[in-house]
Amino acid sequence: MHTFLQHNPTKLYFGKGQIEYITKEIAKESRVLLVYGGGSIKRNGVYKEAIKQLNAIHATVFELAGVEPNPRLATVEKGVEICKEEGINYLLAVGGGSVIDCTKGISAAANYEGEAWDLFTQKAPIESALPFGTVLTLAATGSEMNPVSVITNWESKDKIGWSSSHVYPTFSILDPSYTLSVPQDQTVYGIVDSMSHALEHYFHRTPNTPMIDGFIESLLRTAMETGPNLVENPQSFEHRETMMYVSTTAFNGTLSNGTDGGDWATHRIEHALSAVYDIPHGGGLAVLFPNWLDHVLEEDPSRVKQLAVNVLGVSPEGKEEIEVAREGAKALRAFWNSIGAPNRLSDYSIDERHFKAIVEKTFIKPGVGTYKEMDHSSVLDILKRSL
Ligand code: NZQ
Ligand code: ZN
Repeated sequence: MHTFLQHNPTKLYFGKGQIEYITKEIAKESRVLLVYGGGSIKRNGVYKEAIKQLNAIHATVFELAGVEPNPRLATVEKGVEICKEEGINYLLAVGGGSVIDCTKGISAAANYEGEAWDLFTQKAPIESALPFGTVLTLAATGSEMNPVSVITNWESKDKIGWSSSHVYPTFSILDPSYTLSVPQDQTVYGIVDSMSHALEHYFHRTPNTPMIDGFIESLLRTAMETGPNLVENPQSFEHRETMMYVSTTAFNGTLSNGTDGGDWATHRIEHALSAVYDIPHGGGLAVLFPNWLDHVLEEDPSRVKQLAVNVLGVSPEGKEEIEVAREGAKALRAFWNSIGAPNRLSDYSIDERHFKAIVEKTFIKPGVGTYKEMDHSSVLDILKRSL
C-alpha cells in the first residue's frame, strides 16, 4: 500500500427527512444563491422543501435556474455575477451532478477576479471558495462528497475535470426519496457512472491492497444486484437508497485509500466525447469502458481476469487467463445493455468524423491512464472499437 491521508470534510446527512438539517448548517439570515437545473425540483417538490428550510433561517434567497446537464462555463459566469452583485455568502445546490459541479465552479470563481476558465484549466490557482451545501436528487457522480467538478466550455468545445480542496461541499443532504422521480434513462446512467468510478479505482498497480480491492468488488456486486431490481421497480425506496449510498461511496475518496488512485482514462475519453457531442456522461461510459477493458487485456489480462471472476460471474475453470478476461469484458457490456444502457457510439449517431478532435481533447491535460498509459493511437483504438 501507499501512504495516504484520509480527510473528507463533507458532512453527510443520509435518509428520509434530513433536509431539515439545512437550518443547522447555514447561518441565520445568510444571503444564499440557490442553484438548480431545468425544473425537475419544481415538479417533484424538492424546491418547495428547500425554500421552506431557507425561510426558516430567514435567508435572503437569490436563484440561478437552468443549469444544463454537462454544465456550461457561461452558466458558471452568470452565477458568479449574481454572487458579486448581491454579496452572496452561501450557495445551495439542489439537483444532480451537473448542478453541484456548476455550484463548485461558481464558489471558486466568485472569490477570484480573473477568468473562471483559468481556474478550471489550472492557469490560476484556486486559493479560496464560497462555502456551499448540496441537496442531491440523482445518484450518479459522487460530486456531493468530493472536490471534483466538470465544466464545459461550449465555445471551445472543451469539457474539463478539475478539483480543489476548497470545493468540498460543507454538507450534503442525501434523501433517497428525492431520487424516486429520476427517469429511467438517467437512473441507468447513474448506475453505469457509479460502477465506472468503482471500476476505474480498481485498475491500479499498487501491491498488497486486499482490503480496498475487496471493498470495490463488493460495491460492484451490490450495484449489479440492485441495478436491475431498481430498473424493474423505480419506485422502490430500498433500491434507491442502496444505489444512492453506492454512488456516493464510489467517488468520495474511500476507494483510493492506499492505492495509486486507479486509471481514469475512460473518463478522460468520455469527457472529450461529450464535449463534442453533448451526450449523457453515463451513456458514453457504458459504450467506452468495455472497449477500454478489451484494449488493455490484450497486453495484460490479469486484473481484468480478477474482475471477471470476482465480480462478473465468469468461471475460470479450464480456461486461459486472456479468455476469462475477454469473457469478463463481454459480461460487463451485456450487463449494462440488459438494464438499458447504450452499446455503441452509433446508438448516438456518432461516427468517425470527429475522432481526431476527440483524441486531441482527451489530452487537454497531459497524462491519460496509469494502469495503461494511453497515447493518441490507443485512444483512437478504443474509439474505433466503440463504433
Ligand atoms: O435539470 P433538471 O431539471 O434538474 O433535470 C436533470 C437533468 O435533466 C434530471 N434530474 C436530476 N434529478 C432528478 C432529475 N429528474 C427527475 N427527478 C430528479 N430527482 O436528470 C438530468 C441529468 O442531470 P445531471 O445532473 O446532468 O446528471 P448527473 O448527476 O449524471 O451529472 C452529470 C454531470 O456530472 C459530471 C458529468 O461529466 C456530467 O457533466 N461528472 C461529475 C463528477 C464529479 N463532480 O465528481 C464525476 C463524474 O464522473 C462526472 O464526470
Ligand atoms: Zn463519472
